[in-house]
Amino acid sequence: MSDILTFNSGPKKILSRDETIEDLNSEILSLRPEKFSDYIGQTETVETLKIAIEAAKYRNEPIEHVLLFGPPGLGKTTLAYILAREMGGELKITSGPTLEKGGDLIGILTNLKDGDILFIDEIHRLPKSVEEFLYPAMEDFAVDFVFDKGMHARSHRYQLKRFILVGATTRAGLLSSPLRDRFGIFRSLDFYTDEELVTITKRSANLLDVKTDDSAAFELARRSRGTPRIVNRLLKRSRDYAQVKADGVLTKETVEAALLLEGVDQMGLTNMDRHYLKTIINYYKGGPVGIDAIAATLQEENDTLVDVVEPYLLKKGLVTRTSSGRKATDKAYSHLKIIL
Ligand code: ADE
Repeated sequence: MSDILTFNSGPKKILSRDETIEDLNSEILSLRPEKFSDYIGQTETVETLKIAIEAAKYRNEPIEHVLLFGPPGLGKTTLAYILAREMGGELKITSGPTLEKGGDLIGILTNLKDGDILFIDEIHRLPKSVEEFLYPAMEDFAVDFVFDKGMHARSHRYQLKRFILVGATTRAGLLSSPLRDRFGIFRSLDFYTDEELVTITKRSANLLDVKTDDSAAFELARRSRGTPRIVNRLLKRSRDYAQVKADGVLTKETVEAALLLEGVDQMGLTNMDRHYLKTIINYYKGGPVGIDAIAATLQEENDTLVDVVEPYLLKKGLVTRTSSGRKATDKAYSHLKIIL
């Protein structure tokens, strides 16, 4: 099984894949904007990238390596995809945990062409031994092979094509500084505003050819945790619901009924979000409690809670992170209708 995905810069052609294709989500692929002009939100990041591309084209060089930081679903892969199209290169997608040995990375690097984009998702989970191959690759577009060991060790430098590395991470703090320092462009992506998500919803509804009134678009937007991937998923579930239970048109009522089935509440919180908050409140008296204890009680991965669940709850002020652990706020109690 291959651990790299390739997209041509033209049609959305997948040449090889591994199991993460479902995560990357075929539904999102078809709704994914292909040009900066169709990309909504993250205006400063988009502007930075557009300027870098224009300047690089003018100098006939690749742009500097890009590090994108932020919670899942905010468009890091999409930006890499657009970048590849704009640079006329191919996008190769892999991820930190799938690159187990230096050789895995070398194979990928030596196949890159000028202007190709190598996207490494979860780059903070790249093993140290693999990371070391990236340094010369990023800096000098070269990899160093070492033959034999000890006294007979010889090394050979192999010149690579001028590719662009796009690293994506949910935890910029876990990146080693030598790696972080080799990125020329470092941007963090923020949660989207309700207005931006309304525009994304309307665009996606148009592409899916589903009639959506303004109140339905707004309801989907405000209950999607500031995240385009979520709004697109909930739009599809609401479309199914409207087709089966109503006349196919999305109204506020059909969206509300569909989201109730999905377990998405008025604030957009999922079962998992509520479970997390209730664990702190019911098992640990509202906190402070360490993340390991919460993860153990929920039988969840620590990383999932930190990367996926907590960012939105922190942003909404439902939980705080103190030096002694996580604490549920008054807002969490009132949202869950728990009386002290
Ligand atoms: N679909 C997913 N993310 C998007 C974005 N940022 N703009 C437009 N459509 C999107």
